[in-house]
Amino acid sequence: MSTAPTVVVLAAGKGTRMRSQVPKVLHQLCGRPLVQWPIAVARELGARRIVVVDGPGRPLADHLGDDLLVAVQEQLDGTAGAVAAALAHLTGAAPADGVAGEPVVVLNGDGPLVPAAAVAALVEGLAGGGVAGAVLTTLLDDPSGYGRIVRDGDGDVVRIVETKSPGDASADELEIAEINTGVMAFAPDALRVALPRVGTGNAQGERYLTDVLALLREDGHRVVAHRHDDAAVVLGVNDRHDLSIVRDEAQRRIIAEHQRAGVDVLQPASTVIDVGVEIGPDTVIEPGCVIRGATTIGAGATIGAYTVLEHASVGDGATIRRSHVELADVGPGVSVGPFAYLRPGTTLRAGSKVGTFVELKNSDVGEGAKVPHLSYVGDADVGARTNLGAGTITANYDGHAKHRTVVGEDVHGGVHVSLVAPIALGDHAWTAAGSTLTEDVPPGALGIARPRQEVREGYDERLAARRDATG
Ligand code: UD1
Ligand code: CA
Repeated sequence: MSTAPTVVVLAAGKGTRMRSQVPKVLHQLCGRPLVQWPIAVARELGARRIVVVDGPGRPLADHLGDDLLVAVQEQLDGTAGAVAAALAHLTGAAPADGVAGEPVVVLNGDGPLVPAAAVAALVEGLAGGGVAGAVLTTLLDDPSGYGRIVRDGDGDVVRIVETKSPGDASADELEIAEINTGVMAFAPDALRVALPRVGTGNAQGERYLTDVLALLREDGHRVVAHRHDDAAVVLGVNDRHDLSIVRDEAQRRIIAEHQRAGVDVLQPASTVIDVGVEIGPDTVIEPGCVIRGATTIGAGATIGAYTVLEHASVGDGATIRRSHVELADVGPGVSVGPFAYLRPGTTLRAGSKVGTFVELKNSDVGEGAKVPHLSYVGDADVGARTNLGAGTITANYDGHAKHRTVVGEDVHGGVHVSLVAPIALGDHAWTAAGSTLTEDVPPGALGIARPRQEVREGYDERLAARRDATG
């Protein structure tokens, strides 16, 4: 049997308890919608096909990748009905192919913490000895609500007993602490024969997928259980409280992985790092940081306390203090903040510096250049080694269109300078403090645009004299 399985992700449930306009499995978990977690597991398994079972009205339709198959379960009649919808879709989509030899793996759309290795072991367990079904289990201190694993003297699975509603399980069965995680693997032919025979004769009047296991036994196959040590494997999401518990666990795992790869995360409990963020060794992440999306951070960088990085790239050895960085590129050895706001389209080249209360947007700051204090630089190119004085403001918007400011290399910018774009300052140019510059400044020249200072001698004495005269 080929081991590249067909993976069925059950996601047709309504998720009413989330109390949300958004379908349950589209809620975000560490930067990725819930449903994408089992899909990622399926990819890691090398799945040949991934079928997501969507509910009536196809709420997930626009949110799944093109490489996925989507089956619709028109009536939410239970987990067996969901798997049947997936198989019907496969057969309908490719009649010659159907579920040709490959095993069928079932994952829950709302159960994101299942390790791919545990699922792979289930699939491998199908390989020999007449095994047609394998189920991932774990032991719970409080197993209430979960399906319980009934084993025979040899340890094989006899059946799974549901316990969500009273009536399905006997008192003895309710003592069983080993539960069904909902993750299963099946030999395709045996599954296809057993599935249509699953009935609704149970407390919920649903077609339980778990009933397939007893039917496989009836057909002379073996069903085995793989017990997983970490009970978190079964953590699922029904409401937002569950989601926060699952998120804590997922976040703990993401951070632990970075720590083992050499990243110093000073206070994991206050740190948010999305799945997929890349961080180099010897980088220090101080408390309170939020690092989201497609962010990459090099080696030996320092991300100071309470910094937010969203889809940012940060080079080796850069230091960012208490700043907000979104869709921006911070080069190696760059110093940012405290209190800088780097907006989309900003590139800070190697060794440059952006200091306190500085906002940058869609701008390119050259190697070793500095924007140290209290500035807004938008739609600008700033040449290497240029220093823009405190309070440099680009007037990039004339009310209709945005214009660029081009500042050359080695420019000495005065304080409190407005650069009214479009405007260009040549290499080695100077600007005078307090200038509102509306025209280009040639290379090496000084741009000055401010009224000349007047000095009125004896002013204080004249004022005093006037006060005396008027009593
Ligand atoms: C299921 C198992 C139970 C197991 C538990 C682990 C069954 C009958 N019971 O119970 O043994 O311990 O998971 O979490 O399988 N779904 C559909 N279509 C449906 C019904 C459900 O796609 O008609 C999807 C849900 O969206 C969900 C998954 O199947 O992703 C599981 O359904 P749920 O109702 O949560 O099953 P449980 O009662 O938790
Ligand atoms: Ca569930």
